Amino acid sequence: MEPQARTLHLLFLLLHALTKPVELIENSDFHLAGDYLLGGLFTLHANVKSITHLNYLQVPKCNEYEMKVLGYNLMQAMRFAVEEINNCSTLLPGVQLGYEIVDVCYLSNNIQPGLYFLAQDDDFLPILKNYSHYMPHVMAVIGPDNSEAAITVSNLLSYFLIPQVTYSAISDKLRNKLRFPAMLRTTPSATHHIEAMVQLMIHFHWNWIVVLVSNDDYGRENGQLLSQRLVNTGDICIAFQEVLPIPSPSQDLGPEEQRQMNNILDKLRWTSARIVVVFSPELALHNFFLQVVHWNLTGLVWIASESWAIDPVLHNLTELRHTGTFLGITIQRVSIPGFSKFRVQNTKAGHSMPNKTNPRATCNQDCDACLNITESFSNILMLSGERVVYSVYSAVYAVAHALHRILRCDQISCKKETVYPWKLLLELWNVNFTLLGNQLFFDQQGDMPMLLDVIQWQWDLSQNPFQSIASYSPTQKRLTYINNVSWHTPNNTIPVSMCSKSCQPGQMKKPVGLHPCCFECVDCLPGTYLNRSADEFNCLPCPGSMWSHTNDITCFKRRQAYLEWQEAPTIVVAILAALGFFSTLAILLIFWKHFQTPMVRSAGGSMCFLMLVPLLLAFGMVPVYVGPPTAFTCFCRQAFFTVCYSICLSCITVRSFQIVCVFKMARRLPRAYACWVRYHGPYVFVAFIMAIKMTLVAGNMLATTINPIGRTDPDDPNVMILSCHPNYRNGLLFNVCMDLLLSMIGFSFAYMGKELPTNYNEAKFITLSMTFSFTSSISLCTFMSVYDGVLVTTMDFLVTVLNFLAISLGYFGPKCYMILFYPERNTPAYFNSMIQGYTMRKS
Ligand SMILES: *[C@@H]1O[C@H](CO)[C@@H](O)[C@H](O)[C@H]1NC(C)=O
Ligand SMILES: *[C@@H]1O[C@H](CO)[C@@H](O)[C@H](O)[C@H]1NC(C)=O
Ligand SMILES: *[C@@H]1O[C@H](CO)[C@@H](O)[C@H](O)[C@H]1NC(C)=O
Ligand SMILES: *[C@@H]1O[C@H](CO)[C@@H](O)[C@H](O)[C@H]1NC(C)=O
Ligand SMILES: *[C@@H]1O[C@H](CO)[C@@H](O)[C@H](O)[C@H]1NC(C)=O
Ligand SMILES: *[C@@H]1O[C@H](CO)[C@@H](O)[C@H](O)[C@H]1NC(C)=O
Ligand SMILES: *[C@@H]1O[C@H](CO)[C@@H](O)[C@H](O)[C@H]1NC(C)=O
Ligand SMILES: *[C@@H]1O[C@H](CO)[C@@H](O)[C@H](O)[C@H]1NC(C)=O
Ligand SMILES: *[C@@H]1O[C@H](CO)[C@@H](O)[C@H](O)[C@H]1NC(C)=O
Ligand SMILES: *[C@@H]1O[C@H](CO)[C@@H](O)[C@H](O)[C@H]1NC(C)=O
Repeated sequence: MEPQARTLHLLFLLLHALTKPVELIENSDFHLAGDYLLGGLFTLHANVKSITHLNYLQVPKCNEYEMKVLGYNLMQAMRFAVEEINNCSTLLPGVQLGYEIVDVCYLSNNIQPGLYFLAQDDDFLPILKNYSHYMPHVMAVIGPDNSEAAITVSNLLSYFLIPQVTYSAISDKLRNKLRFPAMLRTTPSATHHIEAMVQLMIHFHWNWIVVLVSNDDYGRENGQLLSQRLVNTGDICIAFQEVLPIPSPSQDLGPEEQRQMNNILDKLRWTSARIVVVFSPELALHNFFLQVVHWNLTGLVWIASESWAIDPVLHNLTELRHTGTFLGITIQRVSIPGFSKFRVQNTKAGHSMPNKTNPRATCNQDCDACLNITESFSNILMLSGERVVYSVYSAVYAVAHALHRILRCDQISCKKETVYPWKLLLELWNVNFTLLGNQLFFDQQGDMPMLLDVIQWQWDLSQNPFQSIASYSPTQKRLTYINNVSWHTPNNTIPVSMCSKSCQPGQMKKPVGLHPCCFECVDCLPGTYLNRSADEFNCLPCPGSMWSHTNDITCFKRRQAYLEWQEAPTIVVAILAALGFFSTLAILLIFWKHFQTPMVRSAGGSMCFLMLVPLLLAFGMVPVYVGPPTAFTCFCRQAFFTVCYSICLSCITVRSFQIVCVFKMARRLPRAYACWVRYHGPYVFVAFIMAIKMTLVAGNMLATTINPIGRTDPDDPNVMILSCHPNYRNGLLFNVCMDLLLSMIGFSFAYMGKELPTNYNEAKFITLSMTFSFTSSISLCTFMSVYDGVLVTTMDFLVTVLNFLAISLGYFGPKCYMILFYPERNTPAYFNSMIQGYTMRKS
């Protein structure tokens, strides 16, 4: 025997052991004879999972448990739907639908009804290899209500491909059609319920929640789905998640459970989270909410999963209204005309059992108290309207529509024939019909995409106790708000449940603890900014050329500081430079005109032009100090001026040398003198000095750079100082040293010739000019090392202009004065007399 067949054989034996002959129940809510039978599995009684019934070989007696009002309501929905279909002349004309309904007792009584449905009418379940032509007791099963029971039953029914349409089992596991090929449902899956919850939280800006789950598959599965969804979002954090202790079948908590319960309630009292999501079957919650009331918890927002969202018994705990606001996720409301009346109709005197088959009954097909208890809730049931009831109702209609197609019904009659369950299943997948204004069909996973509602509990006696406030469409995955929530808070303000208040723009979040929702707000410092879309937890530094104020969300371009034309110091120095330029130009012209005069020749002759032209160029170039620096202007500032200056200095030095030493050299070292003259010694000397200078400058430039750089003003970070490379002050020092050396040489020659006639004596001038140049360079360097601003550029500018002015006016000025105003002294005769006077004095 194959293992599969052996299992079935075992089940078959069990079935025979369990079913015992039951007295004929002529009229019952649980049976209706018909041409085609539907099985119905409902929870009329419930208790939290209890396995004690496995201790004895007997089907558990459901009516020993607590009654579940909603379960009875749903069973009535099935009965109503079947009766309506039978009454209706168009859907299945001439066909009588029947049903067999069994109370599954939530979880306790699933196997026995499953076997009962599977067996043939004579309680015989044959062991076959091929069940294609096997006709079980029912051709389709509606229910049961919860996922755990649905899975258990489905494990049996799937062997026979008996269609099973459940109406409120939401578990995502049921989407797996390889495991549950015959399972369809008329409710959206848990993912949609969770999504609606999360969107609700996001809408009200709640990001700090508590999750309470029951200690069963329902609680654990949905609790996990919610945490996964929240991890994906990252915006909502779970302050804590707790498992609600299970009451024992007597509904009393043991000491351990009581301790757990107190612990949970204590945590609820002290937590700052105001949102409590509860995933639990409703019967486990009765006790819990009694405790909540006892503990005087207030100001909470309870979010109910579909298992208890519309439970009239919990709702009857009217003290709950003081604990806060109750919201819940459930199926949309569709009003079914006539159902309210039908629900509490006493049907005992209705149909008579047809004699078609051997009338039989299974266990748990009675509920004497149901009608009376339901009647006591009939007001609230009527006001709350049909929600899950509609799911049951549409499940029955779906089967009827599939049957309609199989039996090829027209307006008058159907072709009554044997309908094998697997054929019905194929047809069931393809139904697409309108029922009370809703287009109903099964999607690819076998789910009916019914709308979900977010409801609020109301205790106003005349109103719908479960008022819709929003509607969720599984196809669009979006919540639409219909009504305002009336919060149980002062002034009806929306409760706040955030671990930390949201930060001001530009404040970064500093995490506190493990949750991303809990943080301190820290100001972003100047120079940093916060880009919320990129990173909420770090202030990013601004790029170099930009700056920001405290708590900025962007950086701004810094104000650039450099020497500008309109500033007073610039204007003063520029006027000096202009003066220098024009005077140098004038000197050049005068010297040109009086080129042959002794004054010009004594000043250096053609060498004067070697000095005057660079001077002129230098004065012409000083505007490079003004305006934003560029590579070119930095090059000029660092190289051009100093080279010009060195040319001038070397010219003056060589001229002093000639005046003082040439005669001596001619006398004492004639060959050297010959060389000096032959090879244009002065020019070679100047070129040599220039070469050294250029080497120095080039080396300096290679060591640093000529590109301008921007630095933050230490006093005002909004400002960026643009300047040439600051290290050029090292180069400046080298230059000054070299210039100083030249000056010393020039000075010593001048000193040696101090008795020379004034025409030739430049000692005073060189001393003055060199001292000035030296001190100004040193002070510039000092200034540069202590100060950083634009003033450095101004000083540099000023020193450069003054240095050149000193040469231009100091050296050439007096000579020009003589040429212009004392032409009589600018004659060879006068010079000769001066030299003669000097020679006489000397000797
Ligand atoms: C079906 O028809 C019977 C007789 O006409 C009527 O009493 C009953 O209310 C109808 N049931 C439904 C559900 O329409
Ligand atoms: C099962 O029986 C049906 C009808 O007798 C037949 O069409 C089908 O091929 C059988 N399946 C197998 C796997 O033998
Ligand atoms: C709840 O409040 C009532 C009266 O307001 C008080 O008697 C009771 O001790 C409180 N319960 C708790 C747990 O604080
Ligand atoms: C049902 O009972 C009637 C008589 O009461 C009888 O004529 C009929 O044949 C029976 N039908 C079946 C299927 O046994
Ligand atoms: C239901 O209520 C009726 C009267 O309202 C009463 O006669 C009947 O005994 C009750 N049934 C049960 C099972 O309590
Ligand atoms: C609701 O609860 C009150 C007591 O809290 C009880 O008297 C009443 O019977 C309950 N209502 C129903 C319909 O059970
Ligand atoms: C169901 O039928 C309606 C019109 O009758 C059609 O618009 C819709 O696309 C159908 N849906 C599916 C899933 O076939
Ligand atoms: C909700 O309240 C706001 C302001 O109080 C009001 O403008 C709006 O119309 C209300 N919406 C509904 C659906 O009642
Ligand atoms: C409620 O509103 C009134 C007036 O608008 C205000 O004075 C009072 O402070 C508010 N109370 C609360 C708790 O916000
Ligand atoms: C912020 O970051 C986003 C994403 O990285 C980017 O698209 C956006 O341009 C940034 N905004 C600013 C002001 O930097």
